[in-house]
Amino acid sequence: MNQAATPTPYLVAQLTDLHIKAGGKLSYRRVDTAGALHTMIDTLLAAPQVPDIVVVTGDLVDFGDEHEYRFLRDILQRLPMPVKLLPGNHDHRTTLRRVFHDHGYLFANGDGEAAMHYAIDAGPLRLVAFDCTLPGQPGGRATPDGLAWLDATLAAAPVRPTLVMLHHPPFHTGIGHMDAQGLDNAAALEAVIARHPQVERVICGHLHRHITRRFGGTIAMTAPGPAHQVALDLDPQARSRFRMEPPGYLLHWWHPAHGLVTHLAASGDYGPLHPFFDADGRLID
Ligand SMILES: [Fe+2]
Ligand SMILES: [Fe+2]
Repeated sequence: MNQAATPTPYLVAQLTDLHIKAGGKLSYRRVDTAGALHTMIDTLLAAPQVPDIVVVTGDLVDFGDEHEYRFLRDILQRLPMPVKLLPGNHDHRTTLRRVFHDHGYLFANGDGEAAMHYAIDAGPLRLVAFDCTLPGQPGGRATPDGLAWLDATLAAAPVRPTLVMLHHPPFHTGIGHMDAQGLDNAAALEAVIARHPQVERVICGHLHRHITRRFGGTIAMTAPGPAHQVALDLDPQARSRFRMEPPGYLLHWWHPAHGLVTHLAASGDYGPLHPFFDADGRLID
């Protein structure tokens, strides 16, 4: 019998804004970011489909210290699948590279303080990391050099479905104090993305909550954090505050027949699964 091969889905889990502090110290004196990451890893490993790869879209640690990166490295050892890192405005490139010296992709564009651009193949997908951080500054920028690299990198694989990853979302969210530390030159980035229709998603962090917008002919989105979320307050004068809302991550599910579908997934233990129907197939009333 001539059976068609079953199409194989591919799962990318996007974590972001881990803000790990060394030695279990709390962030802002109240957020156990290491404990929250452990909970998220528990969630990932217990899921019915374990992700094929994990990407972390920046703010890996809180202050860019070596002790923080070493503590993070120990926690990430729990993940059996490949893990790819990207810096955010809280990171320090040189220190990140020193501690994760065996993550060769971090050196694709240079060493030390060189921007951490890289592109890797991940199963049927291509992951293109665009480092938009500016050392010592909360906001980011799509620099001319970075955009030239991105344009050439995307042009090199025009057919393979691609996720572009960067820390700062390239759009205004309405959360004024975060937009004030957003991405400079986002319109130029949008023009580059628009030239490459194989880009399925532009995936970001920084906002500590899930937000989407159309962008350059595709969809740009931010992921929630594993711990604290930036307060949802669309007043331009809103104060910079966070809340312990339900934490989560994004699960980007690629299927050859259905394209790229993104799920917002909750981190944590929410109890057992419950049936909709009884043993006779009747809807439980
Ligand atoms: Fe962050
Ligand atoms: Fe950030």
